[in-house]
Amino acid sequence: MENPLFKQTPTELDAADELRSLREEFRLPGRNAVVGPGTSEPSDVEESNKNAIYLCGNSLGLQPKETQRLVLEELQVWADAGVYGHHMHPKSRPWVDIDSTVTEEMAKVVGGLHSEVAVMGTLTSNLHFLMAAFYKPTVSRFKIILEDKAFPSDHYAVESQACWHGFSSDDALITISPRPGCYTLNTDDILEVIENNRESTALVLLPGVQYYTGQLFEMEKITKFAKERGIVIGWDLAHAVGNVELRLHDWDVDFAVWCSYKYLNSGPGGIGGIFVHESQSKQSRLTGWWGHEKATRFAMENGLRSLPLSEVP
Ligand SMILES: Cc1ncc(COP(=O)(O)O)c(C=O)c1O
Repeated sequence: MENPLFKQTPTELDAADELRSLREEFRLPGRNAVVGPGTSEPSDVEESNKNAIYLCGNSLGLQPKETQRLVLEELQVWADAGVYGHHMHPKSRPWVDIDSTVTEEMAKVVGGLHSEVAVMGTLTSNLHFLMAAFYKPTVSRFKIILEDKAFPSDHYAVESQACWHGFSSDDALITISPRPGCYTLNTDDILEVIENNRESTALVLLPGVQYYTGQLFEMEKITKFAKERGIVIGWDLAHAVGNVELRLHDWDVDFAVWCSYKYLNSGPGGIGGIFVHESQSKQSRLTGWWGHEKATRFAMENGLRSLPLSEVP
């Protein structure tokens, strides 16, 4: 079938883009910064100072124009008010609740309920926390299915989880590769690997969008297939969040993790996020201060009173 997109030039496509005006909200590096200073002739100075075409949002998203002002404001509050910024913030952004100001928006971005999403940590630390809760290997069911070319740190995390539970990574990991001559994974091949290892697999971990090939995985189909076989499934959404439509709740995904410095443009070191489906909220887990109910959090007593869902920020 003819693709109507190919009838238009990139300039025409840009002109028709409904999101076009958002470009004005970001700072784009100059070409000089990208190709390196001193590489252009003096006569090219004007040309080399123009904005670069930035195709690196998969690594670090561009800086929104508002970021600098807001960060400087927070630094000023820290300087002027010190610890009082936690509760009596002069701009009404108390740091104690800072994650709750974005959780609702984040839940919309990933298609989760408000109570299923937390803005916290970094992708890899979040992955470890959630594998600590969801990867419950037994002697007969301990395998983890992932891509052969998953982002290396996902391999490190998965291998270390298997070893932590006393399994060798050679025994525990099942990796999936593209067919010879292909770059992307065939969904049928993924389902076949799950089917062939249905009795021994404890966890499937896949990316929503593959970091190198850009492949968009059939998340709903693969999730359903794994869950029908009693296998826990988690998704690394580093390259999917803010990039493609996600409906984690409706797709019945068990858990997902992501970072926010790529397509969410939070900047280097930005806070990541997690999704845990409401049907999984009873999982045993590692706990911390912010899991304690708000009203008595500062009573500083030892017994944990878990934050009720009604109090999730
Ligand atoms: C797909 C994927 N997974 C994991 C990571 C690691 O993220 P972090 O180092 O923020 O934990 C990255 C980083 O780029 C990534 O692209």
